[in-house]
Amino acid sequence: MSKVRTVLSCRECGQQLAQWAGRCPGCGAWGTIEERGGRGPAVELGTLEHEDADERRIPTGLIGVDRVLGGGLVPSTVALLAGEPGIGKSTLLLQLAAGLSAAGHACLVASGEESRRQVSARARRLGVDGSALSFVSGRELPAVLEAARSSRPVLLAVDSVQALRDPSAGQTPGGTSQVRACADALIGLAKAEGVSVLVTGHVTKDGDLAGPRTLEHAVDVVLAFEGDPRSGERMLSAGKNRFGAEGEVAWFEMTGTGLREIDPAALLLPGGDVVGAAAALPLAGRRAFAVEVQALVSGGDTGTGRRQVSGLDPRRFQLVAAVLETVGIRLGRADVFGATAGGARLGDPAADLATAAAIASAASGVPAPRATAFVGEIGLTGTVRPAPAMNARLSAAEAAGLRTIFVPEVVSARDDLRQVPVGHALEALAWAMGSGGSGPSPRAS
Ligand code: TYD
Ligand code: MG
Repeated sequence: MSKVRTVLSCRECGQQLAQWAGRCPGCGAWGTIEERGGRGPAVELGTLEHEDADERRIPTGLIGVDRVLGGGLVPSTVALLAGEPGIGKSTLLLQLAAGLSAAGHACLVASGEESRRQVSARARRLGVDGSALSFVSGRELPAVLEAARSSRPVLLAVDSVQALRDPSAGQTPGGTSQVRACADALIGLAKAEGVSVLVTGHVTKDGDLAGPRTLEHAVDVVLAFEGDPRSGERMLSAGKNRFGAEGEVAWFEMTGTGLREIDPAALLLPGGDVVGAAAALPLAGRRAFAVEVQALVSGGDTGTGRRQVSGLDPRRFQLVAAVLETVGIRLGRADVFGATAGGARLGDPAADLATAAAIASAASGVPAPRATAFVGEIGLTGTVRPAPAMNARLSAAEAAGLRTIFVPEVVSARDDLRQVPVGHALEALAWAMGSGGSGPSPRAS
């Protein structure tokens, strides 16, 4: 490789610097200082970055992770793996590191969450070869930086950013200025040593990164690891990726021996004729996937009127249940529970119509039509509103073997998909109306 003089400059304001800094002295932006080859500034930076990144990518061996990353890890970059406690961040980190080291790439694991003994016990449990991994305690930042500088691994895996402490930054570990100082130091290390850094970060139940949001702006890639910790399925998606592939998704199952990649089609329970289930086609980033929404209506008039969800947005669920009342599906004091297959988290309002279908099915005892999905946001009056990215949703439906889609509007005809446009929720739920079931029966009108 020919040696080129590197130029450090701010991505935002273009200010050039002699030395890397976490914050641009010119415009004050965080994490915008980056290296450019000294071949003249007239090259289009975005293109160069991507080409450059693609040339140097290192496949991790986990196909889904590579897809989400855009083709593998990129040297000199920092990726944040964000997720709630217990979701499987440490497990994924160790599996990635072990996979890379098995392929001959030196990996350094810096864990401040677990001792060396615990990490090696976890590796044993996962059935991965931990012997080729290097370990350093991830509690003190200077020790981690020192270990990485002297061993120059391909991957530095830090677990977690909140457990790391920069003695020069005051405050307690996990605090705002601590997290920021540690992230800046890791970014500096990545740029200076060509190391790829993957760092875990805990997020709260509300999905907020504990510590500053600026961390998300500072790093190159933000990977969100989500799912219901009580169930096995996990979804990995790139919320931010400076090297393309934003919106890619990978699914995993947490097994007794670690995370195993699964085919997203598994989120759609096979068959049909299941009462209280309906397929939704929500978006995750730019991709859509097919997932089953499930509902249970119990207690009838002796219930407490509870509306409880797992994986679904509780406010949208309440709204959908309330709208169903007005169109003749009487829920009254019944307890209504909603969930997603595999604990997938749906924030997409276009999942409303599937939620409505699942509740209507549970309430009427009539299964939703076979191989059918429901797309659309429901308004207060029961009208079905258009949903963005319909083409991605239709592709997901096709891939999942669904044949009929209730849609707010037909976007583009597809040979093997029947799109049924519906302006009102009622039109999509006709099958559930007017039949007796085990649950509260629809009100005669
Ligand atoms: P972990 O990776 O420790 O989560 P995080 O670092 O995000 O807090 O894993 C969380 C849970 O996964 C843990 O409670 C136990 C479970 N688990 C398995 O089911 N199988 C396994 O092989 C491992 C390592 C963990
Ligand atoms: Mg952990």
